Amino acid sequence: MADDKDPSSIEEQWLSLRTSRRQFLRAAAGTVAAASLGVWSGILGTGENSAGLRVASADEQTLRDVALWRHALPRGVLYGAAAIKAHLENDAPFAKRFAEECYILVPESSLKWSTLRPSRDVFNFRDGDWLSDFAEQHGMLFRGHTLVWHGAVPGWLAKTINPGNAAELLLEHIERVVRHYAGRVHSWDVVNEAIEPRDGQPNSLRKSLWLDNYGPNYIADAFRAVSMADRRAMLVYNDYGLEYNTRADGARRAAVLNLLTRLKAEGVPVHALGMQAHLRSEWTKEFDPGLLRSFLREVADLGLKIMVTELDVSDQALPTDEKERDIGVADAYKRYLDVVLAEPSVISVTTWGLSDRYTWLTRAYPRSDKTRQRPLPLDADLRPKAAWRALAEAFKKAPNRSRIIKNRNPWIFPY
Ligand code: G3I
Repeated sequence: MADDKDPSSIEEQWLSLRTSRRQFLRAAAGTVAAASLGVWSGILGTGENSAGLRVASADEQTLRDVALWRHALPRGVLYGAAAIKAHLENDAPFAKRFAEECYILVPESSLKWSTLRPSRDVFNFRDGDWLSDFAEQHGMLFRGHTLVWHGAVPGWLAKTINPGNAAELLLEHIERVVRHYAGRVHSWDVVNEAIEPRDGQPNSLRKSLWLDNYGPNYIADAFRAVSMADRRAMLVYNDYGLEYNTRADGARRAAVLNLLTRLKAEGVPVHALGMQAHLRSEWTKEFDPGLLRSFLREVADLGLKIMVTELDVSDQALPTDEKERDIGVADAYKRYLDVVLAEPSVISVTTWGLSDRYTWLTRAYPRSDKTRQRPLPLDADLRPKAAWRALAEAFKKAPNRSRIIKNRNPWIFPY
């Protein structure tokens, strides 16, 4: 169960794990140690930290001179991004900027069934291991995405699964994959997108090969299995369409809250809600700060943390002029993050990519003018955009979690 973890041993484990990593100009190790000892601002308020490395204090450096993760961490927020292994491996300038800006790396595809499991008997950890090593070498945290999803299903699984073998297929996958990465994963998106009110199923569960063959308990059983295989990872339920004041998002929020409430009531080890936050620049009147704020509070009141897991802003509806698009995208980041970061249970923000050079949106939501989408903090030439500034400013003014969470919730992860 979520509460059966001994916070102190977890915290010690994470701190020892982190400080044993090679210092990659990451003051975070000293900072995180300080945070857990509650002397956070004492270190970051000056020019030096316990590791003897210069850290940014906002008044000493201009906004742009400081990487996004360094704007976020002093507020107790983790910033990072998703990446595809080939992009980090084959694009050295991109890899350099990724290592500069991010404190979390989440594989966009390498830990999905379609990549990991070319066949039932073959587990292909090569890409996931490369990314885990990249994160380790750069002092980053590594997120696992995702163990149970209706997407990225390999053909053999769709053909093989049936009510008689679904539990064995799912639990053998979780056991093997989670144990393989045990101790290296900050948090797992255990179950992804299990809610779909339009499917008309009980509790608005999505009609999927898991629901059809395993039954609704696949969700709780998956969380329990991951908890057994790696007791140090945070276990996350991840979903989209939770952000706006629309009928569809309203139904999704209600169903997600109902699912999380039931899981917690059954003592299922779920620790956080992952809000994907694929935003749309043109949805300004659909954005209701009060509505989102109260949803976040309802989730937090379940004793859950909240992670923004796949943040990006589609500019598909904006005109061709890049300046206008960048401002529209940055405004959407600001609107959303000002609300979300005000909630102290929000502990991380990961964008679904770092640079417009690589975004799923150009392919998935093509613009009528056929230009590349511009949804991310860096442009295709790896330069910071207005969106980058919006993220940096939102992090800078966020309330400091280490103090707030320490006072309100003894169980904190040391980051
Ligand atoms: O790696 C192969 C490559 O070898 C092959 O040549 C190529 C041929 O098309 O396919 C490549 O795999 C693609 C993979 O992305 C590359 O990373 C898959 O076809 C493609 O389907 C896959 O799309 C990903 C999609 O999830 C499905 O897994 C997107 O990049 C990724 O951005 C998207 O991410 C999802 C999250 O997991 C869940 N939330 C929504 C989000 C957006 O759909």
